[in-house]
Amino acid sequence: MLRESLIYLSESPLARRFVKSAPGARTMASRFVAGETVEDGIRAARILNQAGMSVSLDYLGESVSSREEARAAADTYIRLLNRIAEEKLKANVSLKLTQMGQDIDQAFLRENVTRVIDLARQHDSFVRFDMESSAYTQRTLDFFRKLWADGYRNIGVVIQSYLRRSAGDIEQLNRDAVRVRLCKGAYKELATVAFEAKTDVDRSYVELMKRLIEYGNYPGIATHDERMIRATQEFVTGLQKPLSDFEFQMLYGIRRDLQKQLVSQGYNLRVYVPFGGAWYPYLMRRMAERPANLFFIVNAVLKESPFGRLFRRK
Ligand code: FDA
Repeated sequence: MLRESLIYLSESPLARRFVKSAPGARTMASRFVAGETVEDGIRAARILNQAGMSVSLDYLGESVSSREEARAAADTYIRLLNRIAEEKLKANVSLKLTQMGQDIDQAFLRENVTRVIDLARQHDSFVRFDMESSAYTQRTLDFFRKLWADGYRNIGVVIQSYLRRSAGDIEQLNRDAVRVRLCKGAYKELATVAFEAKTDVDRSYVELMKRLIEYGNYPGIATHDERMIRATQEFVTGLQKPLSDFEFQMLYGIRRDLQKQLVSQGYNLRVYVPFGGAWYPYLMRRMAERPANLFFIVNAVLKESPFGRLFRRK
C-alpha cells in the first residue's frame, strides 16, 4: 500500500513541487544522487573506479514533452561521454527514452539517441536504455531492435523480472547476443502484466538470471537482494563460468557494504550513478522500494528545519 502510494506520488507534479522545495530536500536526495552537474557525476565515478567498481552514469530526466528539453538532455550525454573519455574512466551511460523524446515523435527520438550512441561508438563506450513502465516496454524493445538491425552493437536494454512477458523477451535478446541488465522493476503495474507477490517476482528473477548467465552476453545482474546474489553466485559456480562473463550492478548509495564485499571477492560490480536536477521521481522510487528510507528523509528535513536548528549542538 505504502509502495503504491509512493510510486503514485513519484508521478505527481504537486508532490514534486512540495518535496523539491522542502528544507533539506537536497540533503535527502544526496544519499542516492551524486549531485546536479556532469562534473558531480564524473567525480563520483572517479571515486568508485578507485574502489575497483565500474560505473553507469545516468543524467536524471524522464517523461520529457518539450523538444528543447530532450535536445538538451542529449547534449548533456554528449558532454558526459566526452568527459568520461577524457578522464579515461571505467564508465558507460544509461538513459531513458522518454527523456530523449519517445513521447514526442520517433524520428526526433532517433535523432537524439543516435547522436549519443554514435559518439559512444567513437569512444568505444556503451549506452544502456533503462526500462520504464510497461506502457513503454514494447516500444522500447522495438526501437532498440531497429538500431540493432542498423548495426549498432554498443547498446543494451533492461528487462524487469516482475513483467510476465520477460522470459520471451530474454529468449529473443539472447538469440541476438544483446547485453541485458536484469532488475526486478520499479513501477506501478497491473496484475495482468506484472507479478504482484514478491515471491513470484523473485522466482522470476532467478529463472531469468539463469537464462542470462547460461545463454546471454555479459549480463548485468542488477539487484541488492542478497538471495538473488547468492543464487547467481551458486549458478555461476555450478556452470564453472568465469566471473568475467557477467557483472553485478547496484544503485549509488545502496548497500555500499555489499558493493565492497563483491569487489573484494573478485566479482565485476558496476554502480549506477544518477545525477542532475530532476531527481524527484528517482528518489520516490527508491523510497517505494524501501519505505524505511522515509525515516532517513524525515530526519534530514527536520535537521535542516528551524525546529531542528534549535536542537542541533553547536
Ligand atoms: P528488493 O527490492 O527485494 O530489495 C532487496 C534489499 O535491497 C532490501 O531488503 C534492502 O536491503 C536493499 N534495498 C533495495 N532497494 C533499496 C533502497 N531503495 N534503499 C535502500 N535499500 C534498498 N528498475 C526499472 O524498472 N528499470 C530500470 O531500468 C532499472 N535500472 C536499475 C539499474 C540498477 C543498476 C539497479 C540496481 C536497479 C535498477 N532498477 C530499475 C530498480 C529495480 O527494478 C528495483 O526496483 C531495485 O533494484 C530494488 O530491487 P532489489 O533487486 O534491490 O530487491
